[in-house]
Amino acid sequence: MSSDPAASAREPVSESARDSVSESAREFVREHTAVAPVPFAPEISLRVAPEAIPLWELTEQVTGEIGLPPPFWAFAWAGGQALARYVLDHPELVAGRTVLDIAAGSGLVAVAAARAGAARVVANEIDVYADAAIAINADLNGVTVERVLGDLLGTDPEADVVLAGDVFYSREMAGLVLGFLRRAHDRGALVLVGDPGRAYRPKEGFAEAAAYRVPVNADLEDAESKPTTVLRMI
Ligand SMILES: C[S@@+](CC[C@H](N)C(=O)[O-])C[C@H]1O[C@@H](n2cnc3c(N)ncnc32)[C@H](O)[C@@H]1O
Repeated sequence: MSSDPAASAREPVSESARDSVSESAREFVREHTAVAPVPFAPEISLRVAPEAIPLWELTEQVTGEIGLPPPFWAFAWAGGQALARYVLDHPELVAGRTVLDIAAGSGLVAVAAARAGAARVVANEIDVYADAAIAINADLNGVTVERVLGDLLGTDPEADVVLAGDVFYSREMAGLVLGFLRRAHDRGALVLVGDPGRAYRPKEGFAEAAAYRVPVNADLEDAESKPTTVLRMI
């Protein structure tokens, strides 16, 4: 990754500003990933990092920052895999509707929604490399996904369906996402979350829609698979 200020965009970034950094981000994504089917949704392929730790270390070397979170965009997280599976198996939930994939990472869930027949799919990220990965992965799977780079969590969502894969991994993120999802739900959206029992998963406000055991990256998760649920906000 680079130290480019747009690498983590807290303010919404205009399309022209995004496109000016986008090409180098796309090159970085292509250079450090390979195409592989998603273990729990093999009808979708993504560009993922063959090994987690070397890419993680490389991002720390390139940015000069220690203690960075993993390059989220380079993996299909358990929550995203479960949610993608659920959407692919229940296309009626998104077909013909406007869908927002918040904190989209690789874009896996957005791609699944587009595959399942959503009329319009928007994927949101604050990480310019994730934004690049989403564009690449949408092309790879032959679907159209619009991208919004910047922090939407303080805004009012307008989509018919809001999807969030693996977002309860930190207290701060969980708090911000929950407020956003609650506002979406109150405006009438269907809100679905995929979660493998992360530390800040809320204890109430959701009903379990599906439960799976999802294969995960052992380098990142210390396990070969994780029990993972799809939660519907109530
Ligand atoms: C664990 S990853 C999940 C990615 C994907 N949804 C999946 O399940 O594979 C969490 C993602 O949240 C993104 N993120 C963190 N804060 C965010 C924010 N305020 N708005 C949008 N995305 C954010 C990170 O960049 C990261 O890609």
